[in-house]
Amino acid sequence: MSESRGPAPADPGGAQAPGGAGGQPALEVQGLVKDYPGGVRAVDGVSFTIAPGEVFALLGPNGAGKTTTIKVLATLVRPTAGTVRVCGHDAVREPDRVRALLGYVPQEVALDRHMTGLEHLELSARLYRVPAAERAGRIAHALALVSLADRAREPIKRYSGGMKKRLDLACGLLHRPRLLILDEPTVGLDLQTRLEVWRFVRELRRDGAAVLLTTHDMDEADELADRIAIVDHGKVQAQGTAAELRAGFGGAMVKVELGQADLDDGARAALAGLEGARRCELRGRKLLLATDDAAALAPRVAAALAARGLVPRAIGFGQPSLDDVFLEITGHALRDEA
Ligand SMILES: Nc1ncnc2c1ncn2[C@@H]1O[C@H](COP(=O)(O)OP(=O)(O)OP(=O)(O)O)[C@@H](O)[C@H]1O
Ligand SMILES: [Mg+2]
Repeated sequence: MSESRGPAPADPGGAQAPGGAGGQPALEVQGLVKDYPGGVRAVDGVSFTIAPGEVFALLGPNGAGKTTTIKVLATLVRPTAGTVRVCGHDAVREPDRVRALLGYVPQEVALDRHMTGLEHLELSARLYRVPAAERAGRIAHALALVSLADRAREPIKRYSGGMKKRLDLACGLLHRPRLLILDEPTVGLDLQTRLEVWRFVRELRRDGAAVLLTTHDMDEADELADRIAIVDHGKVQAQGTAAELRAGFGGAMVKVELGQADLDDGARAALAGLEGARRCELRGRKLLLATDDAAALAPRVAAALAARGLVPRAIGFGQPSLDDVFLEITGHALRDEA
């Protein structure tokens, strides 16, 4: 096997694999429902579509149904209702076809500690039925992409957590999937490794693959995803680009950190009635006012609070963050339930 150094070698065969016909979505999920025994509805009518070359993020708290959704797409769990199509192929009726088109990197890493990274990749290549003549080249390409070429002959027990995660990512793309599914790809990774995973996802997108990832991390969704679905209680609560999600909230906002956790009804009514305030939400000690002109509204808010003898800890204004959008849409912070 030849060792790869520096930037990943070009992989011209990767962009137009069978199943990647022009115009057809890489993934179509329609009305997906999954009930587990015992009456748990983990997924409750989820629909979304991913185009080739698009990175799509499922963003949601623990227990939202992200992994269950992904397991149905990866043909590991049978849906209760709804349809899943990968490059036009039905995941329930054509599971073998679908498995050949997608790569799946699970939330929990499962590697044999005693094998070397290279041995593990060779095993994966066989499992994914990569033609024998192409195995060495594909493995070299995958190792270069995750920057593990120089450690490939060491046993996995000598790898750090981040290296194991990167090896897992490499295994997921050996058969050049049209859709790569990454469940929490950066949980537990240091900043450096996280940035490497982000770079890796961007390279895949550039090669024309679609990527579906799940995350709890607003920054990750914001930085990496072309579109985001906010998932909570098994439902897609909102989806769009980060800019669209922010725009749905309102063009701008004033954020007030209050000294106390409550406001009386009079104060709330006064704030909601201020000129330029479109919506006024109180979440714990945080007061959020949607508006078109935050710079004009902020001093009015300060004055209205002062008129009631209320001294805020901080007043800020600007674009809503994805955290604000998440809070607005789901009624709780992403980490409340974590
Ligand atoms: N095999 C199972 N049997 C019964 N219930 C399950 C099973 N797997 C998951 N659940 C339940 O389904 C719901 C969704 O779980 P899921 O793992 O899909 O969430 P998630 O969004 O991936 O969460 P996390 O962010 O913690 O990974 C939870 O209530 C969970 O307890
Ligand atoms: Mg999960």
